Amino acid sequence: MSILVKHDTIERNVTLLLVLSLVVVAIGGIVEIAPLFFFHNTIEKVDGMRPYTPLELAGRNIYIREGCYTCHSQMIRPFRDEVERYGHYSLAAESMYDHPFQWGSTRTGPDLARVGDRYSSQWHVDHLNDPRAVVPESIMPSYAFLGRTLLDTTLIGPELVANSRVGVPYDQAMIDNARADLFAQASPDSDTTALLERYPKARVEDFDGDPKRITEMDALIAYLQVLGTLVDFSSYDETSNIR
Ligand code: HEC
Repeated sequence: MSILVKHDTIERNVTLLLVLSLVVVAIGGIVEIAPLFFFHNTIEKVDGMRPYTPLELAGRNIYIREGCYTCHSQMIRPFRDEVERYGHYSLAAESMYDHPFQWGSTRTGPDLARVGDRYSSQWHVDHLNDPRAVVPESIMPSYAFLGRTLLDTTLIGPELVANSRVGVPYDQAMIDNARADLFAQASPDSDTTALLERYPKARVEDFDGDPKRITEMDALIAYLQVLGTLVDFSSYDETSNIR
């Protein structure tokens, strides 16, 4: 009875009601926000993540420039239908070197977070040249001009520097050798020892099928081929990160 009377007082006093509502809401806020001040990093550590190679990074820039994210997401949600279609759900660590991240919000086309290694690079060339040649019902535009456009490599060094300023662990050797690494990755005949030391598991290939020059198509396909392939999920233990 007395509780009812007290509540009656609160409900009739607008100021008191407002102050007490704020207190209640603030408790929820503090519980959510306060722990973040004590964590050094909220991204769980996983094995295998490395920064993008210069060629992959250049491809990522083309992906952003062409607005691929307007139709494609890169974020597999932890739902059964998504995991069965696209593979293991995305981990925070998998986009920690993405500035800006490419999670996206629209799926006019399929999610691309794990498209790497799913198709051959020749498939990507055919698909980007003429999507309907490989998927007859596709509404994706053609990007054939990428294969005719030489990749501008002049700014790749500064690009790595810019990324390192926002926390991507590119070291001085990676920055100094950015252009050399870029060319090496697209030329299977070159010496790729240094490249593979700096960027483990980098895929070395003549991505666009034209060995004579490095085009925007080379860079874009190098990027598509690495998506979602760095973390080895056969050895990933989900429970190891539960605190
Ligand atoms: C207008 C929307 C649209 C845009 C823009 C677009 N796509 Fe697509 N994309 C689609 C659709 C729809 C499909 C599914 C049909 C197909 O495979 O062509 C698709 C399929 C794909 C696939 C095959 C995925 C899979 O798992 O089968 C890749 C790879 C891809 N797109 C890459 C790109 C890239 C790279 C760009 C930017 C250069 C891009 N797309 C721009 C709509 C789009």
